[in-house]
This record gives sequence, structure tokens and C-alpha cells, in this order.
Amino acid sequence: MNKIAILFVCLGNICRSPVAEGVFRKKIEDAGYTDNLTIDSAGTAAWHVGKSPDDRMTSAAHSRGYDLSPLRARQVTEKDFENYDFLVAMDDENYDGLMDIRPEAPRGKIVMFLDYAKDISEKEVPDPYFGGDEGFHHVIDLVENAADGLIESLKLKSQ
Ligand code: 4NP
Repeated sequence: MNKIAILFVCLGNICRSPVAEGVFRKKIEDAGYTDNLTIDSAGTAAWHVGKSPDDRMTSAAHSRGYDLSPLRARQVTEKDFENYDFLVAMDDENYDGLMDIRPEAPRGKIVMFLDYAKDISEKEVPDPYFGGDEGFHHVIDLVENAADGLIESLKLKSQ
């Protein structure tokens, strides 16, 4: 079976997309789907390239059972449209940033992460960077919800 490749994308790649990657990775490991999927995360901006996720997000994630410590920020590139099937944007700005660098005839499709979430009216995962600790936990709530929906939509079978 061909692997499905998914890239989670936010602005800085130090808050939302790393936790989306960490949550999604744990969920697919727990469900036995790791052989079917390649996942990574990236930011549309280059400001934090090479850095670990934000300490506030790392500790909020850790308190909920997710390990973000191996992750390092990188910037999304045009090549990612060849290597990934889905480029999953956290908000409209990320979506627009991806549209700006999208090559002609891309393999990858740009999607909004919260389109996969259930029972919420929010359409975007809000940027927690300039807010308090509760914002980080709210991001994780949204990400957990959307990750379940995205996994369901992929119709994977465990190995
Ligand atoms: P992220 O959050 O896009 O979820 O990683 C941000 C991180 C850094 C900045 C903005 C958003 N910043 O302005 O440096």
C-alpha cells in the first residue's frame, strides 16, 4: 500500500503545527497506522527555523501525553507540494501562504485542518503565541478533535 504523506503547516512551526504533528503521530501509533503514513510539520515563515517548539506548547503537550522534544522548525517549500499528499493549514493566513508558493500541477492538496473537526463552529486553529497558557490548551483541544476526523477520513487499516 502506498504511504499517505501529510504535512501540518502553521506560521512559525513552533506552536500549532508541531503539536498537530505530535498529536497525530501519537494517535496513529496508538491505532497501529504508522506504516501507512509519513508526517511532518513546517511553517510558512522562516523566523524560527532550526528551533525547538515553544516551551509553553511543549509543556502543555507534555501534560497531555505528547512529546514534542524531537521536533525542530523548518520552512515549507515548493518541493513539499511534490512530497506530500495533504498540506494541512491551521488558519486562513497559512492557507494563503501555501497558495502563494504552490507550484503548477501540485501533487499535494491544501486543506484546512478544522474542516475535519466535529461539533465545533471554529474554522481556524488560533495562533496562541501572544496569549496565555489557556490558549495553548485550547489549540490542543482543537487539534485532538481534528486529528480524529482526519484519521477517519483517510480510511486506514491497521497493519
Ligand atoms: P505558530 O505560532 O504559527 O503556531 O508556530 C507562532 C509562532 C511565532 C510567531 C507567530 C506565531 N512569531 O510571530 O514569531
